[in-house]
Amino acid sequence: MKWKVVNPLNNELLESITEVIRKAELGLDSIDNYYDELAQGTCGTVYAINEELVLKANDLVYSLKDVNDHIVLESLQGLPFVPTLYAYTPDGKYLIIQRIKGLTLWELELNNNPYQFNYEELKQQLKKFVAGCLERGWIPNDLHAGNVMACPQGVYVVDYGYFRRCNNPARMSSYRRMSMECELDNLEEMLERVSKPSNCNSSHKKTVTVNFLTLSVLPQ
Ligand SMILES: Nc1ncnc2c1ncn2[C@@H]1O[C@H](COP(=O)(O)OP(=O)(O)OP(=O)(O)O)[C@@H](O)[C@H]1O
Ligand SMILES: [Mg+2]
Repeated sequence: MKWKVVNPLNNELLESITEVIRKAELGLDSIDNYYDELAQGTCGTVYAINEELVLKANDLVYSLKDVNDHIVLESLQGLPFVPTLYAYTPDGKYLIIQRIKGLTLWELELNNNPYQFNYEELKQQLKKFVAGCLERGWIPNDLHAGNVMACPQGVYVVDYGYFRRCNNPARMSSYRRMSMECELDNLEEMLERVSKPSNCNSSHKKTVTVNFLTLSVLPQ
């Protein structure tokens, strides 16, 4: 089994993960006998390898056609909100990713905010995230509350399966641009939910998407 290693990963650990997958692929054993299942999405299953890492096993029925989360995640490494990708199989079926030890914004109840992040800082991170995605050729998409997690270290977007390719953001259709702005408005509202109450009032709303027009990758 071949891996594309994106960030350094202990070799013995990688070998043991490979062995677990090999047995599962042969039908000799199942992955959940080794790793706890954390969640299931429409595209696959996420397992806890240990405290630091998850294994995302994609269902190739979806992956082959629509889902390219390994490619997107690799190209967005280093941006705020982007978990570290350690390795993936070139077919995109298995990914080893930083484990986010927290809750999805779906799991966080509407009025329960244990995190109390600084909203201004999150907004700066959001700007860098959006600009970085566009510069690297990707339109953020599918940013619903099940795809965004908060943990003590901050906020992470965990699902890149439906990000869209965009080679020239300046020539993005107005339909695409509007739907992206809608997605970003949602994300901004989620950031508000995990921020300190004193930093939240309605005047904060939609500043990123309004200012988004000033991002250098788009025409002024
Ligand atoms: N890096 C991670 N650390 C911890 N939990 C994660 C991580 N990535 C995903 N999860 C958990 O797994 C769930 C499903 O992950 P993800 O959204 O990536 O899968 P998916 O199959 O693409 O989902 P869907 O298409 O249904 O949105 C998330 O909602 C989250 O609970
Ligand atoms: Mg998802």
